[in-house]
Amino acid sequence: MQQATAIAHPNIALIKYWGKRDIRLNLPAVGSLSITLDALSTRTRVCFDSTLGSDSFILDGVGADARRITACLDLLREAARIDTRARVESSNDFPTAAGLASSASGFAALVVAADAALGLGLPADMLSMHARLGSGSAARSIFGGFVEMARGSRQDGTDAVARPLLAADAWPLEVVIAITECDAKALASSAAMTATSESAPFYAAWVRSSRPDLRAARQAVLARDFDALADVSVHSCLKMHAVMMSARPPVMYWNAATVACVRCLTALREAGLPVFYTIDAGPQVKAICQPEACDAVEHALRSIPGVAELRRSGLGGAAHVVEGAA
Ligand code: DP6
Repeated sequence: MQQATAIAHPNIALIKYWGKRDIRLNLPAVGSLSITLDALSTRTRVCFDSTLGSDSFILDGVGADARRITACLDLLREAARIDTRARVESSNDFPTAAGLASSASGFAALVVAADAALGLGLPADMLSMHARLGSGSAARSIFGGFVEMARGSRQDGTDAVARPLLAADAWPLEVVIAITECDAKALASSAAMTATSESAPFYAAWVRSSRPDLRAARQAVLARDFDALADVSVHSCLKMHAVMMSARPPVMYWNAATVACVRCLTALREAGLPVFYTIDAGPQVKAICQPEACDAVEHALRSIPGVAELRRSGLGGAAHVVEGAA
């Protein structure tokens, strides 16, 4: 038996990935930029066992669909020239599939654990490429801190990989997450992306306008320019939600508390607090702050009806092996 365990952290996109240029290889239609969170984590154990007839997947103690896991593991099996099936056990210390990027940390941890179990020692960009096949955002969770994911232009996707942009400690921002709904979301992001690209009249404009957003965000990160990063991040977030709302049928992840959090954080920023928000494929609101604003932001969000829980996180956390190897 070859086994290993890895931990990976979710990431939050400031410049959003939404839409695919190739569904089979899971290639993004746009580049993206994210921050990896150190306070939330996924722990995944992969055990290759020659007695197994197929891959199995247990998520938070419950049997789950292993198809995407198999697609990801097949790449690593090919690299290791083996055909052995694996038992995969994964657990999250935060709500699964509720817009907190559990698929990002999940597939990053899977790939890192499988690589270690098979003794492959693949370079980080290869791990990022393999994680992408499981989930586009997972390619970014291989790295900690500020991370940029390239759209790439090659048909085979070898250039659609993430790379670290700035270390977490070079600009230690903090994040306050307002959880407004703990249940799994209604529509998975893959299906919502397909609906958007097939029917949203603004989809082409979304894709076209993402490149300058990415450039502006990259420059803002490298210059540690909080206001510039805030402006372009809020723009990317609202534009992504606007394009999905324009799909038929519409895709709408927000609830009343989501909107209340957005209004509250907008008012705080207008009052001079260094904070801005972003929202992914779910109703949770993530407030990105300079450290000195965190307490006031947490206090303000706590009083909003419908905010069930608040989590705080710093940046950090590249995916890493915690136990075992070949
Ligand atoms: C809104 O990475 O979950 O969080 O590649 O289909 O698995 P798949 O999608 P996924 O989508 C993430 C969408 C997003 C924005 C982002 O993280 O960039």
